[in-house]
This record gives sequence, structure tokens and C-alpha cells, in this order.
Amino acid sequence: MLYIAPSILAADYAALGEDVRKVPNADLIHVDIMDGHFVPNLSFGPDVTKAVDGVTEQFLDMHLMIEQPEKWFETYVAAGGDRLVFHVEATSDHVAAAKAVHELGVEAGFAVKPGTPIEPYLDDLEHFEEVMIMSVEPGFGGQKFMPEVLSKVRTLREHITGAKLDTIIAIDGGIAEATIVQAAAAGVESFVAGSAVFGKDDPAAAVDTLRRLAQAAR
Ligand code: DX5
Ligand code: ZN
Repeated sequence: MLYIAPSILAADYAALGEDVRKVPNADLIHVDIMDGHFVPNLSFGPDVTKAVDGVTEQFLDMHLMIEQPEKWFETYVAAGGDRLVFHVEATSDHVAAAKAVHELGVEAGFAVKPGTPIEPYLDDLEHFEEVMIMSVEPGFGGQKFMPEVLSKVRTLREHITGAKLDTIIAIDGGIAEATIVQAAAAGVESFVAGSAVFGKDDPAAAVDTLRRLAQAAR
């Protein structure tokens, strides 16, 4: 499968509902939660998540860039999150955290910052529906893609195929027409794009273009 996941971090917050409705062809909606501690920025929280959930049937992939994510799992499931993706750097027991997410009846994922190696997590992938490789330092949209993280994608792809797992490899940060091709070729299946979708006049056309480019590169 191939998933294009527009990040509403780049949407117009004064017209958030309208912007979400502009991408009915997106496979997922990526919701960036920032707490001003784990990352040096704030975004939005459970109430905005709930409002977004109220205007779309689409799957909400929750990117939790927050400290002590476990404290918030229940809140974000209640707000409409369909998958909770927490950062391994923010938890001391990522497998226990995944189990806590599953007990709430939704999918679990983990994210790694650009400088965090993937090897320590390879044997735990069976507990996760998604692994998110950050290709920028988390905290802000519109940053430059870091191609060096693609070696982690290749390692993951090899491991996931070898172990016959279904874990989805996602990439987040700096994905646009110019970068999606290399990410797809390395083995990414799910592509988060903020400015490359909502920064365009026609966000739905941008989603289609990104999907076509990714498909051709696989
Ligand atoms: C950054 C966020 C990203 C962000 C991506 O911390 O996790 O999801 O929205 O934005 P672009 O696609 O503009 O790099
Ligand atoms: Zn994100």
C-alpha cells in the first residue's frame, strides 16, 4: 500500500475544517501534537483533534511530539485518534507503551528523530503498525529534507521484509515532489507532507501528484 498523509500543521487554522475537506483523496490525515517541551514549539491539542475528527471520516494518524506520551493516550483516543505515534526518545519502555495503545483499541506507532539510530528497535517491530522516520528535526514545518535518514529506511525495509511483518514505514519532514521519489525508492510506504500539500493552491491535486511520483519510484 501507499499512503499520502497531509499534515494539518501547514493548514489554515482559521479555516481548518475547510482545509481538511480539500483533501478527500488523502489516505490519512497527519495530526502533529507538540507540547513546547519535547519540541520547541506548540501546535494544538485534543480539542482541535476532536474538531478535525468531526469533519472527516479519514484515519487520523497522531504524531505525538510530547513528553510522557503515555499520560495522553486515552485523551487522544477519545479525541478521535486512530493511530498513536509516540517518540521513542520520550518514553523509557516503547513496547509497554505500544501495548497500552493497543489496549485502548487503536493502532500504535513509534517515531525516531533524525539522530536516533533504528537498530535498537528492530526486534520490537512486531508491536507496531507503523514506524515513522523523521527526515527533519521535529518541531516545525517547511524544513529541508535530510536524505541521510534514508539509510534507516533501507535497514527497516530489509528487516520488515525478512521478518514478514506488516509494519508500515512512514517518513515525515520535507517531503515534496523533489524528495518523495528517493524516499519511495528506499522503501517508504507512507508519506507525510505539510507545506507540499496545504501550501499549494490545489491541495488535492498536490496529493495526486505526490502519489503518482511515489508509485512510479517503487
Ligand atoms: C514536523 C512535523 C511534520 C510537519 C511536516 O515536526 O512532524 O509533520 O508538518 O511539514 P513539512 O511537510 O512542511 O516538512
Ligand atoms: Zn509530524
